[in-house]
Amino acid sequence: MSEVLTVAMPKGRIFEEAVELLRKAGYRLPEEFDDSRKLIIDVEEENLRFILAKPMDVPTYVEHGVADIGVAGKDVMIEEERDVYEVLDLKISECYLAVAGLPGYEKKDINPKVASKYPNLAAQYFKEQGEQVEMIKLNGSIELAPLIGLADRIVDIVSTGRTLKENGLVEFETIVPITSRLIVNPVSYRMKDEQIDRMVERLSGVVDGVEA
Ligand code: PRP
Repeated sequence: MSEVLTVAMPKGRIFEEAVELLRKAGYRLPEEFDDSRKLIIDVEEENLRFILAKPMDVPTYVEHGVADIGVAGKDVMIEEERDVYEVLDLKISECYLAVAGLPGYEKKDINPKVASKYPNLAAQYFKEQGEQVEMIKLNGSIELAPLIGLADRIVDIVSTGRTLKENGLVEFETIVPITSRLIVNPVSYRMKDEQIDRMVERLSGVVDGVEA
């Protein structure tokens, strides 16, 4: 009997798509996955334990080895720079990171401020562009910042573009396309290699459109 694999799942918008992908790969996940407040869900028949975490925290759980595997957005991976393996592009939750602000914004030399949930990633981007900016870290509703004068520009996820549009903001530059990734703790990959490889195989079959 193989050991239990612990999988860190991101709560929120990626969750549903990740559950759907696992089900397509043949994992029998109970109804609890569709409507529950539980933070730990054991699926004994699959030998899996799921922990439901904030998306930004998934790589932390995996790096510390309390989860063997996790599902994390590329945005979070770039921001967090954790010591984990990225083993598979799950090609779900497609979106991109962009710089946005109020229409007609003109770059200013004195004290330009940028608000973001991704301060490291954004700071690196502006550095590469040769622009010095002051970063303001926010945890959500980033689009508020230019509207109320907290920052001139934002770096945030754009999915459908509705949030920008409905708040009268426009995109200035695209930074990087984003999808969710399967990540693995390096020690777990050595200790539970067969189980992990099997999961990667089953999921890649679905990602590439081949039945598991
Ligand atoms: C994300 C992101 C944007 C929005 C983009 O926020 O930060 O605000 O989604 O999606 P759209 O292009 O389809 O409108 P999320 O809903 O995850 O919540 P947050 O504001 O708390 O980060």
